[in-house]
Amino acid sequence: MHKLTQKEVFKDLNLEKIDFYMLNTVNSTNTFAKEKILKKDYLVVISEKQTAGRGRQGKDWYSPDSGNIYMSIRFKNNNPDPLSLVVGLLISEAMDSVSGQKINVGLKWPNDLLIDNKKICGILIESEINGDNNDFIIGIGINYSLPQKESWWGEIGDLANILPREKLINGILKKIINYAENGYKNWKSAWENRCIHMGKEIKAISNNQNDYEMGKFYGISQEGNMMLQTKNALKIISSGECSIKGIY
Ligand code: BTN
Repeated sequence: MHKLTQKEVFKDLNLEKIDFYMLNTVNSTNTFAKEKILKKDYLVVISEKQTAGRGRQGKDWYSPDSGNIYMSIRFKNNNPDPLSLVVGLLISEAMDSVSGQKINVGLKWPNDLLIDNKKICGILIESEINGDNNDFIIGIGINYSLPQKESWWGEIGDLANILPREKLINGILKKIINYAENGYKNWKSAWENRCIHMGKEIKAISNNQNDYEMGKFYGISQEGNMMLQTKNALKIISSGECSIKGIY
């Protein structure tokens, strides 16, 4: 495995604006970033492994030391858009720009990235009070290689030749910083274009996993909510996740 170097990870980025930590191990890069004070515009934490990696909905995020990406970025966000959806889109765009080709990575609401119908990236957005405002902490986990896995977990695998870790991290940082500073006007249609279940029959599952509803995924609102056409009504769903038959 190629070791991450500061020079490659932060290539062409202005380090006057970025505080960073490149660690071998940490409980969770998100927890670490939450405990630090934001002294510059951005705080970036990257680790080779996590001993208590966290996923959405209180789940764990399997984080072995096998060449994956575990990173968090803390910053103030003045954009009104739903960060969790926009970040998924930005990562998929970073994959295209870094590799120089169109990687077939799809988005699944709200913020999973899939290759060959398997999840290769998860995103956990948290916030932390900082004075009168909230800072956001974006946590990103990207699987390159997993010694153990569930049937629905995927890996970057051979694509690592065109998507080396250090270049992908660099590309993601550039996209997120550019977004933080300039916004993204047409993010909604760009997100829908990359969504793998537009117009498809899906199962919308509530946060506590106890309730679900079947319907046709109709797209997203400007707030990032899912629009679900059920038998009786067009419903707006703001939280939870979705499941697609034959995928997960
Ligand atoms: C999900 O459940 O899909 C979100 C997974 C987010 C994992 C990343 S890995 C880096 C950061 N630190 C954490 O503890 N979690 C996020």
